[in-house]
Amino acid sequence: MSSENRILVVDDEVVIRELMVDILSDEGYIVESAANGKAALERLSSGDAFVVLFTDIMMPEMDGIELIHEARKIAPSLVPIVMTGYATLETARAAVKEGAYDYVLKPFNLSEIKMAVTNALERSRLQNENARLLEITDLFHISESIAAIRDEQKLLQYVLGAALDRVNADRGSLMLVSENGRQLEVAHSIGLPEGMDKAVVEMGDSVSGWVAEQVQPLLVPDIRDNDQVRRFSRQLPGHSFISVPLERKGANGNTKLGTEAQQPHVLAVLNVTGKRNGASFTEGDLKALSILANHAAAALENVRLVKDLEEAQREIVFTLGAIVETRSMETGHHVKRVAEYCKYLALQHGLSEAEGEILRLAAPLHDVGKVGVPDAILNKPGKLTPEEYDIIKTHAEVGYDMLKVSRGRILRTAAVVAREHHEKYNGTGYPRGLKGTDIHIYGRITGIADVFDALGAERSYKKAWELDRIVDFFREQRGEHFDPELVDIFLADVEAIVAIRDAFPESGSSA
Ligand code: C2E
Ligand code: SIN
Ligand code: SIN
Ligand code: SIN
Ligand code: FE
Ligand code: FE
Repeated sequence: MSSENRILVVDDEVVIRELMVDILSDEGYIVESAANGKAALERLSSGDAFVVLFTDIMMPEMDGIELIHEARKIAPSLVPIVMTGYATLETARAAVKEGAYDYVLKPFNLSEIKMAVTNALERSRLQNENARLLEITDLFHISESIAAIRDEQKLLQYVLGAALDRVNADRGSLMLVSENGRQLEVAHSIGLPEGMDKAVVEMGDSVSGWVAEQVQPLLVPDIRDNDQVRRFSRQLPGHSFISVPLERKGANGNTKLGTEAQQPHVLAVLNVTGKRNGASFTEGDLKALSILANHAAAALENVRLVKDLEEAQREIVFTLGAIVETRSMETGHHVKRVAEYCKYLALQHGLSEAEGEILRLAAPLHDVGKVGVPDAILNKPGKLTPEEYDIIKTHAEVGYDMLKVSRGRILRTAAVVAREHHEKYNGTGYPRGLKGTDIHIYGRITGIADVFDALGAERSYKKAWELDRIVDFFREQRGEHFDPELVDIFLADVEAIVAIRDAFPESGSSA
């Protein structure tokens, strides 16, 4: 590997230069020399990467310390070592304070020089590794954040923000490929002039379209040097830009699935321009954005998949809930009202909007296990025998068993609700006789909502209760059947609850 380790020796004395070149060449390094600071800086600017710089301190025109300063500006990762005689040992120590990594003493001791080079190379390796580690850690944090976002628009915003941050640019856009795969539409942009921020372009007719069609990232360091690209360019102010495709995963491996094959291979294109200080984008920028685009594409697919699944779940939930309602002759909007009370209580209790919404979607399934109860019992006009009541009670566990296999958030929540909505705070409920806050908050909430609505409605076995009587019942059962804290929330604003009830009236009963 020493062939990649290029060393520059700078000394105004030719003997010293030749000696150092000999010693280091024998060790297998590529060694070049320069007679003064100016020549050294020219060599460093040439583009070849030097790893170690040996420099004399006392030299005419530019001394070693100044050279180190200037060299660092050109090659920040260069490891400088000063060469010094005993007479200038103090100066050498000062040089180390000013940025030299080490010093070696003249006349030269072979093993000392070898050791200095070995240390310097190790230092250089660690520097590079640290820089790379920082970069990867940074990308890793970004990708973690990306994966946690569930909303498509928020995801696009985050990705574009992170991309611009990463490459020091102040202008960019994310363009989504249309369903027919023939157009690209700006879905989110930062710094774009008005009008352009909603642009729709045809595939064959733009830089982003080319990137999407070719499934190729594009780095243009300077548009003025690139006739082909200039044709498409929309007079952007910057002269440098990057466009990368967000590629669908598994599109190659899974083309057997018909639906998959028909979807566009590229989901979106990420464009950035306007690098700060008028600089050009680099290969490193391109690489960082390609990694980012990979993570973003996976996250975008996930978000869409989850959204589809949740939509499907919503439909299933209301369909099932409606079937349950019909079967038990709860003619009106029982499950809808229960759902709304549940969300209201959840939010008042301090759960998040998302948690409240999940509960609202799940609650209609609380009685889904009643499908296993015979009509003759379920719709019996009068009081149940203890045996009949035992059969009805199975609906909690039956509902749980029906729903627990699901992996979706809504149906999993529904499973808990089905199982725990008849538990009582004092431990006398069913099926498990759970007590207090051992009952899931969703179960405690749905329990209140369900009973409130059942009491206010006419059933095959009972008349509807007046509101006053219902309120008294809840006061009485505070801490017994029901979570006292939730009862307080509930009673704090009964009008709010009644408003919900009135919004979903019993359509089927006597009007
Ligand atoms: P549901 O009609 O949806 O009632 C849900 C819960 O509301 C009941 O759970 C109970 O806690 C409360 N609730 C309903 N009506 C009354 C009432 O008149 N007085 C009181 N104190 N509470 C009431 P529970 O008791 O575990 O019953 C579960 C399900 O079993 C009921 O769902 C209903 O489908 C059925 N059920 C209960 N009792 C009878 C009955 O006497 N006859 C018939 N046919 N079905 C019954
Ligand atoms: C990551 O973003 O998860 C790591 C970045 C990389 O691929 O090196
Ligand atoms: C969330 O971001 O976790 C809530 C959004 C949702 O439930 O769909
Ligand atoms: C919760 O807020 O998720 C639980 C709090 C409670 O047990 O009431
Ligand atoms: Fe029930
Ligand atoms: Fe119910």
